[in-house]
Amino acid sequence: MKALGVSDPSHHVMVPAFTCAACADAIIHAGGRPIPIDCDLDSYGLSLEAVKSGLEANKGVVGIVIAPCYGVPARDFAAIQALCKEKGLWLCEDACESYGASCNVRGFRVPVGSMATLSVVSVRSEKMIGVGEGGAILGNDATLVARAKWWCSRAPCRGVGLWRVYEHDAVGQNFRMPEMPHPQ
Ligand SMILES: Cc1ncc(COP(=O)(O)O)c(C=O)c1O
Repeated sequence: MKALGVSDPSHHVMVPAFTCAACADAIIHAGGRPIPIDCDLDSYGLSLEAVKSGLEANKGVVGIVIAPCYGVPARDFAAIQALCKEKGLWLCEDACESYGASCNVRGFRVPVGSMATLSVVSVRSEKMIGVGEGGAILGNDATLVARAKWWCSRAPCRGVGLWRVYEHDAVGQNFRMPEMPHPQ
């Protein structure tokens, strides 16, 4: 959320009404305001119709969180992605429950976690790949990914060469993961 620019209660972010509370928590932690949006009963994913009417009613929306539940991508994932592009909104995909799944987009199999401005996965023990605690941010916009990494590493000032790790540009957090032990 921080990397996507959420920092103020005037930043409204649509979030599925049916998902883990972590989706709304992340928005609140960043300083924004979560706007719960209805889900479809067939996929339990964000409803395109509800997103459209929500956007009509709320002009403060800066982005949308989509969270495929139980490995099932939202029925209208591609249409919601297209709508975000059309309206200049970012799309953040919470793929914590669904990495490994894919959906059909205009005849192509597209993996969950690859279609949003930024996506997140969890590797907590109960997830598909469980290594204890933690997760990862996925994206193909190098600037956004670098901003997320910077903030997760205590937001150090950038110096020449190495980062000046004891001086800080912003109030960051330590969300780095330890190295994985190598199998013997
Ligand atoms: C959709 C979704 N998002 C986020 C989380 C939170 O992940 P973590 O437990 O790694 O904080 C979960 C965990 O159950 C989840 O199912």
